[in-house]
Amino acid sequence: MNLEKLVRPNIWRLTPYSSARHDFEGTGGIHLDANENPYETGLNRYPDPHHGLVREKIAAIKGVPPEFIALGNGSDEIIDLLIRIFCQPGIDQIMTLDPTYGMYRVAADICDVQTVAVSLDTEYQPVPEAIAKATTPHTKLLFLCHPNNPTANALDQNLVHRIVEAFPGIVVIDEAYIDFCPDKTFVPWIKRYPNLVIMQTFSKAWGLAGIRLGMAFSSPEIIKLIYKVKPPYNISTYTQEQALQSIRNKNQKDWWVQKILDQRQWLTVELEKLPMVERVYPSDTNFILVRVDDAKKWYDHLRQEGIIIRNRSNVHLCDGCLRITVGTALENDALIQALKNA
Ligand SMILES: Cc1ncc(COP(=O)(O)O)c(C=O)c1O
Repeated sequence: MNLEKLVRPNIWRLTPYSSARHDFEGTGGIHLDANENPYETGLNRYPDPHHGLVREKIAAIKGVPPEFIALGNGSDEIIDLLIRIFCQPGIDQIMTLDPTYGMYRVAADICDVQTVAVSLDTEYQPVPEAIAKATTPHTKLLFLCHPNNPTANALDQNLVHRIVEAFPGIVVIDEAYIDFCPDKTFVPWIKRYPNLVIMQTFSKAWGLAGIRLGMAFSSPEIIKLIYKVKPPYNISTYTQEQALQSIRNKNQKDWWVQKILDQRQWLTVELEKLPMVERVYPSDTNFILVRVDDAKKWYDHLRQEGIIIRNRSNVHLCDGCLRITVGTALENDALIQALKNA
């Protein structure tokens, strides 16, 4: 891979903003360099722009060196940064495998970057031949969502392997839901494939959607580009501290994952008993895709009962489908009761 050829020329040439905290990275001393308020509030200083400590702790739990890790204000910021690093507006394209997470296209649209959508097959698996056929010299980024939202399935490892080997640009694997099937992660592959970026997030299993913290795992060259382009203080002090605390208390996350997996199993069995349910798709995530006889009717009914799910029936290959997040035992029971009593 020739990274220089893939990156937008203006980004390759860019002189990044150098903040006071970039200039002086030590601790201690009298800080009269960043026009901060000197009076202690706990938050009067700018946060670490390099996210040093958080990256170190993430490195330890993921088994990846810190220089292979970048942090974003949610994975959504990483998606946006990757598009801005690699795609020239009006010229380059991203590729998505539909149906999939909607932000790839929206982030591209905002940058005036075209999205080429290639269909998954009817088992919601990628088709390497179709991807190769639709790829042009301007297809810079290919987004794979693994496990996929909204279909809930993990992608087949052999197919992903063929795709990563063949794709001439950057392959982004969005592992937002990987904590629910950790054995299926592609993170170890970043050592072998310098054109691979894996994204994960604290928004799902870690119970921290509110702090906005996403991770990118990639070759140090791509990580450096992300740090060159990102806003200097994209991760707040509060977020960095909360992340450190949650990592220290990692057992809590593992406990939640187990609870959610148990509840997913219960919900699957109960949904399959209901007369309106035609198919419960297998899930590797914390949500379930369900095909019902009349998606709009059941979506509206649940809404009236105060239960909000997502109607995905207008989405490609998801005819008649609802997407249901696995809740607490009480919430899941309320959902089943509301459908039983309809
Ligand atoms: C596949 C996928 N990627 C990324 C995100 C967003 O992650 P974050 O909260 O880290 O921006 C979501 C949120 O639903 C998602 O489903």
